[in-house]
Amino acid sequence: MDTSDEWITQRTGIKERRIWENAPDDAASELGFLAAKNAIEKVQILASSIDTVICATFTPDNFFPSTAALIAGKLGIKGGFAFDLSAACAGFTFGLSIADSLIRSGQSKRVLLVGSEVVSRSLDWNDRGTCILFGDGAGAVILEASDDDKGILSCVNYTDPNGAQSLYLRSWGEKRFLVMEGQKIYKYACKLMPEMVEQALAKINMGVADIDLLIPHQANARIIESVGERLGLGAEKVVVNVQKYGNTSSATIPLALEEAWDGKRIKDGDIVAMTSLGGGITAGAIIMRF
Ligand code: UT7
Repeated sequence: MDTSDEWITQRTGIKERRIWENAPDDAASELGFLAAKNAIEKVQILASSIDTVICATFTPDNFFPSTAALIAGKLGIKGGFAFDLSAACAGFTFGLSIADSLIRSGQSKRVLLVGSEVVSRSLDWNDRGTCILFGDGAGAVILEASDDDKGILSCVNYTDPNGAQSLYLRSWGEKRFLVMEGQKIYKYACKLMPEMVEQALAKINMGVADIDLLIPHQANARIIESVGERLGLGAEKVVVNVQKYGNTSSATIPLALEEAWDGKRIKDGDIVAMTSLGGGITAGAIIMRF
């Protein structure tokens, strides 16, 4: 294809990404299952204690049954509430917001939220404007109620249908691949992600100065840099790992969160902001105290 490592590095910051070659039809549930299994092992709980499974994905195994139901099956979780969430690259922040509401309302006790994407199966490999950007991946978190002042403090979710034609993947027809007007989405991302963070902070009377770490959706290193600058955050406060995985859609934030956590970039009591932007246009932000 007419592209180069130099162009990709300069324009996107991406150096590597993961592609599941010849991925099977159940690849989204399998990747999601593996991420969920890791999360369950880390916190040492029984999978059977999870009563809700949410899978954010735009590359589900099927229209139905949901990828969440299949992940629940692979984990041996019976009963409960399992469903997929379609918000493209904002799927993880939308999912955190829903999980938070389910727990606060008492409907769910322990929620497994998975972002799982096999984007490689939905790309036009002749379109250099998209096929160089995306990778396959999954991340998972487990949420439950707590009595302390930690956890999700504020959520903002946003949808602008005016941008629906700028980033999409059709369900029907011959051309079943991701289509994107890159520059338009770039502008949406640079504008909306900082706005979402500011709105989420304002809801709880906090300001940017309160943020210890920002975990933005990982689509392009230049976008991440711009979001950090617009918020006035130094580079040391912004997590970037797009160079390793490319854009894995709903999986980028949990992948970056795990790296930040394992790398001890998050300390007890830290305020962490997450923000996302995806097809829809969807956008959101979450403020958490760890
Ligand atoms: O996760 C959902 C959110 N997604 C995003 O946030 C992605 C947002 N968009 C982007 O990250 C960037 O717009 C892209 C990386 C997709 C494109 O970067 P850009 O700096 O906006 O490039 P452009 O579209 O303005 O294209 C500049 C030039 C064009 O050539 P001409 O017209 O100037 O001759 C393109 O044809 O670069 C060309 N080009 C490429 N050249 C080499 C576009 N893609 C490539 C490529 N390799 N892969």
